[in-house]
Amino acid sequence: MDTSGLMARKPVADIVASGEAEGHSLARSMGPLSITAIGIGAIIGAGIFVLTGTAAAQYAGPGIMLSFVLGGIACAFVGLCYSEMAALIPVAGSSYTYTYATLGEFFAWLIGWDLILEYAMGAATVAVGWSGYVVSILKDLGIHIPAQLAHAPGTPIEGGGTALFNLPAVLIVAALTLLLVRGTKESSRFNNVMVVVKLAVVVSFIVIGWGYVKSANWSPLIPENDGTFGHYGYSGILRGAGVVFFAFIGFDAVATAAQEAKRPQKDLPIGILGSLIICTVLYVLVAAVLTGLVPYKELNVPDPIAMGVDVIGLGWFGAVIKLGAITGLTTVILVLLYGQSRIFYTMATDGLLPRLFAQVHPTYQTPYRSQMLIGACVALVAALVPINVLGEMVSIGTLAAFCLVCGAVIYLRRTDAGLKRPFRAPAVPVVPILGILFCLALMAGLPLDTWLRLVIWMAIGLVVYFAYGRRHSVLRRKTGTAT
Ligand code: ALA
Repeated sequence: MDTSGLMARKPVADIVASGEAEGHSLARSMGPLSITAIGIGAIIGAGIFVLTGTAAAQYAGPGIMLSFVLGGIACAFVGLCYSEMAALIPVAGSSYTYTYATLGEFFAWLIGWDLILEYAMGAATVAVGWSGYVVSILKDLGIHIPAQLAHAPGTPIEGGGTALFNLPAVLIVAALTLLLVRGTKESSRFNNVMVVVKLAVVVSFIVIGWGYVKSANWSPLIPENDGTFGHYGYSGILRGAGVVFFAFIGFDAVATAAQEAKRPQKDLPIGILGSLIICTVLYVLVAAVLTGLVPYKELNVPDPIAMGVDVIGLGWFGAVIKLGAITGLTTVILVLLYGQSRIFYTMATDGLLPRLFAQVHPTYQTPYRSQMLIGACVALVAALVPINVLGEMVSIGTLAAFCLVCGAVIYLRRTDAGLKRPFRAPAVPVVPILGILFCLALMAGLPLDTWLRLVIWMAIGLVVYFAYGRRHSVLRRKTGTAT
């Protein structure tokens, strides 16, 4: 094996073996239901509660239902690939680990760095969405949070002036970080309860709302394009799919729980595909009900689902929906913060990040130092950056990571054909190739400045790798190629 270049590969058998060893420090406490709940906990959040309305109003109209179908299809192909990799390599670290075993350390680093966009930035994005709903419900209760303290700096506020920072977003990140430091079992129980509440609210919105839908609001299903790419018409559906893709992010977080699953080979595919199917069906139905209740042009508000409920005219239901949205957003932040610390944990055990990120608390058995550091950074970003900038960065970074996972499945089937695969993605290489094509199409729908931000972020990652990771890599030390 050539380990002198950038393609140093970590043998799959070694990864699994070291995962088994590490499994002794992280507690194996989760069954298939808890794992599916991790997926749903990460998936249903700001995407459906906040971005659906914006995307319908600005890009897709009622055709946003089709955008969700498009996003769901893309994620289904990727989900099948993820399931194969997660079952084959059931250790924490997600697509970072898969890439290490396939395309080598350099690409693994790039993907690990890229995943910070999905997890840490994703948590910050949802924290900002959470802040919007909390401010709204507090206002209903007569408690006014000053607008200066509820938005990113520079955001214009009513009555003149601009905002300073987003305080509620900071507070929720701090509270959930403390919960995660205390232990996975407690966090997992908390997550299960929150997921049940969230599902109940989403389903009741669909069931109660369906009776009030005006089918005239669905016509035309695909409003005519106004001459600009992405503004209605078919390109609008694509742009809408790129934006609401954010709503699907999170099913891969299931894979980061591999070392804490009781039966990873079975539970991971169940968790990934189960949570994805449930959420896609719910999204299409929510989008249908929402655009059937409210003319799409009016949906460009921070709390579109609550607006849909207002049309129904049941006051108590509005409060329930807002509470459900807050609950939903809370679980997403929790799972994303959790996933980030587990990815860093694996990267640190590989030597690509400082040892601090792999230090486990003797009593709580959680990577507490890493979790607190992540919490501090996420809180800072959530305090200072607006939701639209964050959301698009998260989408593009995640889509890039998904392409690599699909590529890894094809590659590993060739290089390590003999490995026992507890779950096999069907029709390889067709399914992974379709996954890559769908992800690239959604990326193409996103604006140019988002692409530029991605390039800059990855360039910073390269500097960090050559300055630190490459010199401290455990694999390179073992093979005597550390520089
Ligand atoms: N899918 C998650 C959300 O929509 C990230 O909030």
